[in-house]
Amino acid sequence: MEDFDFENRIVSPTEIMGENGDDNPLRPRTLDDYIGQDKVKQNLAVFIEAAKQRGESLDHVLLYGPPGLGKTTLSGIIANEMGVNLRITSGPAIEKPGDLAAMLTNLNEGDVLFIDEIHRISRAVEEVLYPAMEDFAIDIVTGKGQMAAAYHLPLPHFTLVGATTRAGQLTAPLRDRFGVSLRLEMYTPEELATIIKRSASILNIPIEQDGALEIASRSRGTPRIANRLLKRVRDFAQVMSNGVITLKTAQIALERLEIDELGLDSNDRRMLNAIVKFYKGGPVGLETLAAAIGEEAVTIEDVIEPYLMQIGFLNRTPRGRCITRAGCLHLGIDLPDVQDAQIKFD
Ligand code: ADE
Repeated sequence: MEDFDFENRIVSPTEIMGENGDDNPLRPRTLDDYIGQDKVKQNLAVFIEAAKQRGESLDHVLLYGPPGLGKTTLSGIIANEMGVNLRITSGPAIEKPGDLAAMLTNLNEGDVLFIDEIHRISRAVEEVLYPAMEDFAIDIVTGKGQMAAAYHLPLPHFTLVGATTRAGQLTAPLRDRFGVSLRLEMYTPEELATIIKRSASILNIPIEQDGALEIASRSRGTPRIANRLLKRVRDFAQVMSNGVITLKTAQIALERLEIDELGLDSNDRRMLNAIVKFYKGGPVGLETLAAAIGEEAVTIEDVIEPYLMQIGFLNRTPRGRCITRAGCLHLGIDLPDVQDAQIKFD
């Protein structure tokens, strides 16, 4: 079985190593430059303006929603609009309470501390976070036995921006300490086309509206994927034609990249086809399916399935995975007895 690097595939919503450094010129710096998420933007603009008028730090902000929608970008914009520094870390990177304490004591008044994947911080670290968020203080114990000493250390008034793909995985006490909670939504193709044209202009790539819309409609509602596809389509436009991304060059390039009209790649289709061919459309257990297509179960669960479920091509049932009627239609297969997509609540 071929070895495929799933994390680095072109339609992965998660960040490819080094892709989104601080110097990424495509990253918007102000709310005005940030396209889409209108409700989030309007509310944030009010909270930022109000905090600035009062001369206070912004209340703690929780950003949640699928990966690749711009949570890190938004935290940078918040810091920029507030005129403060941004410090970035992530739940798994904070190993010990002391790691968090060191970071907190190094902040300046008003600074933004961004914790990505905040649902993955440990209990011990979370205990430090509570008083830090609520009272802007931490309690440190040094030494042991007779030598033990407790210090109550005041912190600057900072803003914690927490990001998670699943707000439901946060403990209630942590969730309750965020004054502002904002849900990011998938982008519409029109919004993505606007983002693609903005990126193209920054990168000096000539692009036509319907070329932008073609890339947008195959980007799975995700700006990170849209920007990545733009760069690959540019290569084709440059080598195959005069460098201009038209509808035609976009279609040819995306076909060569094996990304179909809905943004599925060959791995998505391979898995769906396997469910049809080997298991009559399902149900099939995750481990069985993984063995059949030669992939790890966790890869299927974390990387392939979320988008297929979101567009209603796959159902997870207690007895296993099933392809849906819509999924079959997309593959051009007529299977009797397949079900419609389940409605998802999350
Ligand atoms: N690049 C990535 N996300 C963006 C957004 N929401 N607006 C503008 N440019 C972006």
